[in-house]
Amino acid sequence: QAYNERESLYIVLNYAKDFFVKNLQTEEGRAIGLSYFKERGFNQAIIDKFDLGYTLDGWDHLLTAAKAAGHSEDILLKAGLVLQKEGDPSRIYDRFRGRVTFTIHNLGGKPIGFGARILTQDKKQPKYINSPETEVYHKSDVLYGMFQAKKSIREKDNCYLVEGYTDVISMHLAGIENVVASSGTSLTENQIKVIKRFTDNVTVLFDGDAAGIKASLRGIDMLLEGGLNVKAVVFPNGDDPDSYSRKVGSQVFAGYLSDSAQDFIAFKISLFAEEAATDPVKRAELIRSVILSLSKIPDSIIRSVYIRQSSKLLEIDEEIIHVELNKILLKVQ
Ligand code: UTP
Ligand code: MN
Ligand code: MN
Ligand code: MN
Ligand code: MN
Repeated sequence: QAYNERESLYIVLNYAKDFFVKNLQTEEGRAIGLSYFKERGFNQAIIDKFDLGYTLDGWDHLLTAAKAAGHSEDILLKAGLVLQKEGDPSRIYDRFRGRVTFTIHNLGGKPIGFGARILTQDKKQPKYINSPETEVYHKSDVLYGMFQAKKSIREKDNCYLVEGYTDVISMHLAGIENVVASSGTSLTENQIKVIKRFTDNVTVLFDGDAAGIKASLRGIDMLLEGGLNVKAVVFPNGDDPDSYSRKVGSQVFAGYLSDSAQDFIAFKISLFAEEAATDPVKRAELIRSVILSLSKIPDSIIRSVYIRQSSKLLEIDEEIIHVELNKILLKVQ
C-alpha cells in the first residue's frame, strides 16, 4: 500500500508512541521512567490515558527499531523523531534519550509530537525537549490535552487553561478533565479558536510565579479579544496546579478552584491592589491596564457590563472609563 507523506508521518509517530509506551515496561524503563511517574502520583490508568512513555538512554534505540519495522530515515527526520549530526548530516540519532515522554495528540487522538522531561536536576540540559514543528504538528494550533478534555469542556461549558503537561495530568487525577495546556508558550489566535469550538468560557490557571502571572495577563487579553469570558485563579507561593493539587489533595483543590476563580477585572485589580492602594501612579497604571483589557472585548453589551463592574471595583467614574475607552477604540479603527 502506498501512503502519502502525511499518512506516513502519522504512522511513524504512532509507532514511536507505542515504542515509548512499551519502553516503560522494560527493566530500565521501570527502574527510571515508571518509578518517576509513580513518585509524581501518576498511576497506570493515567499513564495509559495520556500515552506516557520513556525513551531509553542511548543514541539510536528508536532509530534502529523503527528502521527494522520499515520506516525510512527520511520520514523519521520529517516527524522530528531523529536529528542529523552536526557537520555530518548523513548520520542521524534519536532526539529523545533517557527521558519520560508526554504524547501530544491532535483533536482526533492521533500522536503528532512529544514532550520529553529530564529526570535529573542537570541544569545544563533543558527540563523539557519538545518535538519540532512538522507537517502534522503546527504548534500554534495545538493545546496539550485537548483530545482528552474536549468532551468534558463541552459538558462543563468551561475550559481550564494551564501552563504545563503535568498540570493537565494532575488535574485529571483530581477528577477535573476540562483542562488544556499552552505548554509554556504564549497563547495564539488559532488555539483560542480551538477552545471556542467547545466553550465560550475559560478559566486561566497559571503558575503562581512572576513568569506565570505575566503570561496569564497576556493570555487574558488575548482571550478577551477572542470574545471569550475569562476568569483566573492564582495559586499561592509559587505553586502550579500540579504541585498545589498534590499538596492539598483533590477535594481541597477542587474547592479552591471554585472559590477563588475571579473575574478578569477582579483578578487584575487584586494583583496590583496592594501597591495601587498607596501609590497614585501605580493606581493610574492599574486603571489604564484595566481599560486596555476592556477595549479588547468585542461584544459591546458584555463590555458595558464589565465597565460598570470596573467602575465599582476601581472606584472611578463610569464616564471617565468611557472617555478613555473611546480614545483607545478610535485609535484601533
Ligand atoms: P514549567 O517550568 O512550569 O514546568 O513549564 P512544569 O510543567 O511545571 O513541569 P514539572 O512539574 O517541573 O515537571 C511549563 C511548560 O512549559 C514548557 C513545558 O510544556 C512545560 O510543561 N517547557 C518548560 C518547555 O517546553 N521546556 C522547558 O525547558 C520548560
Ligand atoms: Mn461559541
Ligand atoms: Mn512555570
Ligand atoms: Mn509549572
Ligand atoms: Mn510543575
